[in-house]
Amino acid sequence: MTLRASKPLLATLQGTRQPVPPVWLMRQAGRYLPEYRALRAEKGGFLALAMDSESAAEITLQPIRRFGMDGAILFSDILVVPMALGQKLWFETGEGPRLAPTVTARDVLDGFDADSSVLEPIYGTIRRVKASLDPQTTFLGFAGSPWTVATYMIAGQGSREQAEARRLAYRDEGLMQALVDRIADQTISYLRAQAEAGVEAVQLFDSWAGSLSPAQFERWVIAPNARIAAAVRDLVPVIGFPKGAGGKLAAYARETGVDAIGLDETVDPAWANTVLPEGLPVQGNLDPLALITGGAVLDSAIDRILAAFPERPHVFNLGHGILPDTPIAHVEQLLARVRGTAS
Ligand code: CP3
Repeated sequence: MTLRASKPLLATLQGTRQPVPPVWLMRQAGRYLPEYRALRAEKGGFLALAMDSESAAEITLQPIRRFGMDGAILFSDILVVPMALGQKLWFETGEGPRLAPTVTARDVLDGFDADSSVLEPIYGTIRRVKASLDPQTTFLGFAGSPWTVATYMIAGQGSREQAEARRLAYRDEGLMQALVDRIADQTISYLRAQAEAGVEAVQLFDSWAGSLSPAQFERWVIAPNARIAAAVRDLVPVIGFPKGAGGKLAAYARETGVDAIGLDETVDPAWANTVLPEGLPVQGNLDPLALITGGAVLDSAIDRILAAFPERPHVFNLGHGILPDTPIAHVEQLLARVRGTAS
């Protein structure tokens, strides 16, 4: 008889394949859960929730209580790092994040008044979750990657094809480098502090890695992520998630030195298995829309992903965040299918 690893997700990220792949879902705490919507209505808005340690800890634990995922992910946002760098952040209802003033010139960046104490409530959330998490569940922290965070700092909001940031990167490489360096430095101390407060692994979200040309990808994605990974890996394993990297995935894996790599839903998992370094743990990559569809479509999409990694350590996840209109019964179906407990 084999004993179940006490933390199957952490063991997988450390390179040991588990008989049953551990599962968690990006954005697993959020609007598809009625208990999240209730707390959000009571407390008045997303950022207020994320900056209130007690509420954020409760929300982090909601999907663990309901579904028993193998990983709990800190409830926060990637845009708290610009806040610590001195930019103002707010969320427009029904629209998304806004940041001001936008980074358009060197003097804007130099005028920011950095204050990393704004991140203190987040460490408070981590200590609370840590104190009440069951011993089988792995606790994940995260940050945005410098390029993705920079796209919001430059445009002041989500932007079509990240055009403002890509233009700035061509027009003023020096400013782009200064911005990316500043985000990377803050991210390193932020992730190290998350680990010291109690997270057991971290994910670097590079949601907009896919919009860059190959040379830009090397400079603005691979180089800063390699620096962050090297500065954090002595404390906790690092999952890199270069969404949209496509054919640049293997170079990202080799050159950044991340401990595990997240695949988005556009990547063929069987192809990824042939091009990624042997033994490198992978995470992914169910299409969030297959999860919404459910039924036989969902079952076969899950089976195809499971079959693609016959030997490699694999963490089951979505290829991107769960969508607000996802039926709860389909999340239950997913967990039963991956764990082989479906009736
Ligand atoms: O995975 C998790 O559950 C952890 C928490 C988490 C959130 N955002 C909570 C959140 C994480 C890891 C993120 C990452 C994030 N945030 C990214 C990178 C990953 C991705 O999704 O591509 C980006 C680009 C952001 C910035 C951001 N935050 C946007 C663009 C939005 C608005 C879009 C939306 O879905 O409403 C947010 C808000 C946000 N962050 C919500 C949640 C649960 C929605 C909050 C709400 O309206 O109640």
